[in-house]
Amino acid sequence: MSPKVSIQDLIDQLDQLEEEASTAIAATEDSESLEKVRIGYLGKKGRLSIVLGVMGTLPGNERPLVGQRANTLKKQLQGLLSERYKTLKQDALNELLEKETIDVTAQSSGVPIGNRHPLISTTEDIVDLFCGLGYRVAEGPEVELDQYNFTALNIPEDHPARDMQDTFYLDNHLLLRTHTSPVQIRYLEQNSPPVRIVAPGRVYRRDAVDATHSPVFHQVEVLAIDEGLDFSHLRGTVMAFLKSFFGDLPVRFRASYFPFTEPSAEVDVQWKGRWLEVMGCGMVDPAVLEGLGLDPEKWSGFAAGLGVERFCIARHGIDDIRRLYTSDLRFLEQF
Ligand code: DAH
Repeated sequence: MSPKVSIQDLIDQLDQLEEEASTAIAATEDSESLEKVRIGYLGKKGRLSIVLGVMGTLPGNERPLVGQRANTLKKQLQGLLSERYKTLKQDALNELLEKETIDVTAQSSGVPIGNRHPLISTTEDIVDLFCGLGYRVAEGPEVELDQYNFTALNIPEDHPARDMQDTFYLDNHLLLRTHTSPVQIRYLEQNSPPVRIVAPGRVYRRDAVDATHSPVFHQVEVLAIDEGLDFSHLRGTVMAFLKSFFGDLPVRFRASYFPFTEPSAEVDVQWKGRWLEVMGCGMVDPAVLEGLGLDPEKWSGFAAGLGVERFCIARHGIDDIRRLYTSDLRFLEQF
C-alpha cells in the first residue's frame, strides 16, 4: 500500500516547489540551463508531474483543490520561464554588442596605400594631354624588326645608330627597339591618313648608365599626318603641350638632324641649372611617306619622340634618372 498523503502535504509540496523553481529560474545564466530547469520542473517526468502523480490517492472531492493549485503554479512558472528567457536573450545581445564595438578612433594597423610611380604618371599625363588634342593611343612591339626600327625610317645601313655600340641585336633581323618611332611605320601601314597618334613604350640602348642615361628607358612617340600640315603646326602643338606640362619652365627649340624628319629640331628644358634635351621632333621626311606609298605632294605631317624619364626629372627637379629605377620607398613616397 502506498503511504497515505494528505491534501496539506501536497499543498506544502507545491508551495516548496514554487519557491525552489522560482529561485532556480532566477539563477540561470543562459538559455541552455534555463531549458534544463524547465524540463526538471515542468517536463513529463518533472517535479510537478511527480507531485501530481500522487494526487490520485486523495479522496475525489479533494483532488480539484490540488489540481487548481497545480495549474496556477504551472502557469506561474511558465510566466517566469519566458520572462527569464527574454532577459537572458537581451543580456546576450548586449554583451555581443559591447564585445564587437568598433573603436573608430583607434590607431590603424597601417596598411600602406600605394600610388602611381612617377614614370607611369608622367607617361599618363603626356598621353592625356595629346588625347585632349584629339590624338589616339597606338602601340608596337619591343622586339622589333630591323626594317621598322631603321630602314623604313630612312636610317641607312651605315648610320651610327645601327652600330653594335648602340643597339641590342637579336637573331633573324630582330632587335630591341631603340626608339618608339617604328610605331609610326606600323600604324601607317594599317591606317590611312589623316592620323594623329601617341605611342608610349619602353625602348633599349647600349648606353652607359649615368644621371641622364639608362639602357632601358621610356618614350612617347607623336605622329600627325594630314593635308597641309607645316612646321608652324609642329611648333604650335609642341609649345602648347610643353606649356601644359611644364607651366612656365624655360624651354628652347634647337635645329637638329634626324634621318626620318626634315627639318628636325630638338627641345631642351631647364634642369639643375643647365639645358636638358627632352625630345626630338620634325616634319616627316618625304622619303618615309613615299616608302609607305603615300604621296608627299598630298600628305605631310610632323612627328616627335619624347623621353619620359627626362620629362619626369625636369618636372619634379629630380637630380638623377637612376632614382626612378631603384624602388626606394623613401623616394617614391614623395609622389
Ligand atoms: N626617335 C628619336 C630618338 O629616339 C626621337 C625622335 C626625333 C622621334 C624626331 C621623332 C622625331 O618622331 O620626329 O632619338
